[in-house]
Amino acid sequence: MSNRGFNTRAVGSGEIKDKKYGNVVTPIFQNATFIYPNYNDKIAKDPKTGKPYIYSRSGNPTLTALEEKYASLEGTENAISFSTGMAAITSLMMSMVGKKKEVLSILDLYGQTLSFFKNKFPKYGIGVDIVSIDKLNSIDFDLKKYDVIYAESITNPSMKVLDLKTIGELCNKNGITLVVDATFCSPYNQNPVSLGADYVVHSGTKYLNGHSDTMSGFVGSNRDLSDVFDIRMNLGGTMDAFQAYLIQRGMKTLGLRMKQHNESAIQIAEFLMENPHVISVNYPGLSGDKYHSIAEKNMRGFGGMLSFRVKGGLSGARKFMKGLESISAAPSLGGVESLATLPIDTSHSSVSKEDRKIMEVTDDMVRLSVGIEDAEDIKEELGKALSQLS
Ligand SMILES: Cc1ncc(COP(=O)(O)O)c(C=O)c1O
Repeated sequence: MSNRGFNTRAVGSGEIKDKKYGNVVTPIFQNATFIYPNYNDKIAKDPKTGKPYIYSRSGNPTLTALEEKYASLEGTENAISFSTGMAAITSLMMSMVGKKKEVLSILDLYGQTLSFFKNKFPKYGIGVDIVSIDKLNSIDFDLKKYDVIYAESITNPSMKVLDLKTIGELCNKNGITLVVDATFCSPYNQNPVSLGADYVVHSGTKYLNGHSDTMSGFVGSNRDLSDVFDIRMNLGGTMDAFQAYLIQRGMKTLGLRMKQHNESAIQIAEFLMENPHVISVNYPGLSGDKYHSIAEKNMRGFGGMLSFRVKGGLSGARKFMKGLESISAAPSLGGVESLATLPIDTSHSSVSKEDRKIMEVTDDMVRLSVGIEDAEDIKEELGKALSQLS
């Protein structure tokens, strides 16, 4: 399967087809436990343990199917799934605890990840220094000090793009472990490990599942993931079989959905650029965007996320949100339906003013997750809501 196209792998990788039943899709093994010891010498083995399945916190055949599908799309040798994106991020990073690591992270992170690094990690003796993504991209930090660098491939909500190839090369040359959260890109637009990252993490709650109806997280790597697997066992961030089934079902259409997200988002970004009530648009697919050339170097598509500033400050932004009809005001992203949010009211409400200034997150900023509805309809709705600002 590994040499097949993206959509072929999305549909066919990892599927469990049992000739005994002739099933064409992976079954849901809704079992907390399995017969163990199992004396059937033909019993299937959990590839993570090399033993028959025993207990679903450790592993479950539906999870194995999901992890194989994810690894195939990510192009990594190994992958491990989690109940949420945060479980994936914290478990991966906790697997490094005790090894006296010094971590450098970008400031412009998903809020919970930043809070974990700032408030929790130091308690375990892990030093975390924080720099802006621009400083990371221009290598404006003391390289020798760090064992691990953590970044997101596109920042939320300012849509700044990590120069992954440059930082990946730098990390490889200097023996630094690079971890990249590629949630905003999805494996359709970027495979960070092929660009030099050691580990890629995802909130599968977003594009991978794509239907805003279940949570998940993933870690992919060509490195051995047994430490991460042990932590998942300890902390218990395993998903259950039904959750795994839903996500692998959503993943089958990831390529089709992302193609539409990519195509619609550029149209909408261009439409917003022309609107007299819009001050500026952040979308790396725009040829005039500050991060366009970095994005071209590191991404196959520019994704479905964008942000823009409206006239009238915070009250203008709130008025715009009230004017939306079918586009829901909700903080998540990556689903088939378009969602809009004001970062100042949601994801960045607890971020200090000083940090928001560095991140360029303003009071009048709207973040839009462009769904797969017809782009013309999305534009019409945005145009109507913007027209109320005059
Ligand atoms: C970039 C990014 N990483 C990680 C997460 C955390 O994922 P989850 O909500 O699935 O725990 C989010 C959630 O919004 C996110 O946007």
